[in-house]
Amino acid sequence: ATFNLLLLPGDGIGVETMVEVERIIDFFNRSGRATFNTQSDLVGGAAYDAHGVAITDAAMDKAQKADAVIFGSVGGPKWADVPYAVRPEAGLLRLRKDLGLFANLRPAICYPALADASSLKRELVEGLDIMIVRELTGGVYFCEPKEIVTLENGEKRAIDTQIYTTSEIERIAKAAFDLARKRGNKVHSAEKHNVMRTGVLWKEVVTEVHRSYAPDVQLEHILADNCAMQLVRNPKQFDVIVTDNLFGDVLSDEAAMATGSLGMLPSASLGAVDAATGKRKALYEPVHGSAPDIAGKGLANPIATIASFGMALRYSCDMGAEADLLDQAIAGVLAAGYRTGDIMQSGMKQVGTAEMGGAILDELKKL
Ligand code: NAI
Ligand code: MG
Repeated sequence: ATFNLLLLPGDGIGVETMVEVERIIDFFNRSGRATFNTQSDLVGGAAYDAHGVAITDAAMDKAQKADAVIFGSVGGPKWADVPYAVRPEAGLLRLRKDLGLFANLRPAICYPALADASSLKRELVEGLDIMIVRELTGGVYFCEPKEIVTLENGEKRAIDTQIYTTSEIERIAKAAFDLARKRGNKVHSAEKHNVMRTGVLWKEVVTEVHRSYAPDVQLEHILADNCAMQLVRNPKQFDVIVTDNLFGDVLSDEAAMATGSLGMLPSASLGAVDAATGKRKALYEPVHGSAPDIAGKGLANPIATIASFGMALRYSCDMGAEADLLDQAIAGVLAAGYRTGDIMQSGMKQVGTAEMGGAILDELKKL
């Protein structure tokens, strides 16, 4: 099969980690497992420097036509004072909005070789493999009214609004149940129906959507605050957690810490399935930012970006077997003792970005 990929390396370490993804794409192309046609473009500060915007219409057009967008990272001190509308992050926000990427998938996987780097005890995290499905385009971060007003008595009042509609909840619930069917067949839906009307509707709609996934997929409702506690008490009880934008932001960062470094964490953001083509818009990116403190030095851990490409194989290219191989290669180099600075442990072999990428490639060739 042939897939069109748009690579948007962006700024800082995004540029360095994307080079390692390109080497892996080359490997898959040469091995005849698939044909990836890649295009690249600028985003973030790099696009601002060249064009005065955080992403051009031409780059957006390429993104609309691609099977998957692989995104590095944007931002840095160089662009601290650029106008708000064209700040580097605006490039990512426009991609999410224009591609309609409403489902944010954040896996929390603990590679056995890194279990001691976790914030939690080894026995709690060894073998951990959970997926947080966060609603990304609605909820309290985006709804109006959103303002700070000064009252007659001089006091200020800040307002944020949370709104969720049936269709918004339905589509994120379906995404979570579909995913669970390919994993451990268990979904926890986290909300706070005890104190929020959006929580009441969330629970109601998720329950309704679940009817067409029962009995093979199991559904449990959990209050979001209890979910936060359970994630540190016994994270392995979870398979898929589906939740709204705000709770998802917090819970996914919490789950991430069970797995070790920011340099290890991939993510995917998915849009609706197009009824005509069966395809869905998708963007894959590491969770970390542009890391200005280490940018340009060849020190960045490329695993988060490489694993993000692995998610693209799985969710946009129907290449689950190859995604598994890539995961095995990553686990293999970690087991062999290769470590970038961010995950360095005593007695291990410290390497830079290119060496880590090269080691993963070598491991892949052996599998
Ligand atoms: P950051 O994720 O860039 O860095 C936080 C710390 O983690 C730094 O010490 C960095 O060196 C380290 N780190 C991150 N990724 C690493 C990797 N792959 N390998 C080794 N070490 C790694 O977050 P920070 O410092 O808050 O933000 C820096 C810039 O990135 C800012 O301009 C921020 O706005 C932007 N940013 C962009 C994001 C994106 O493109 N999606 C997300 C988060 C921040
Ligand atoms: Mg966050």
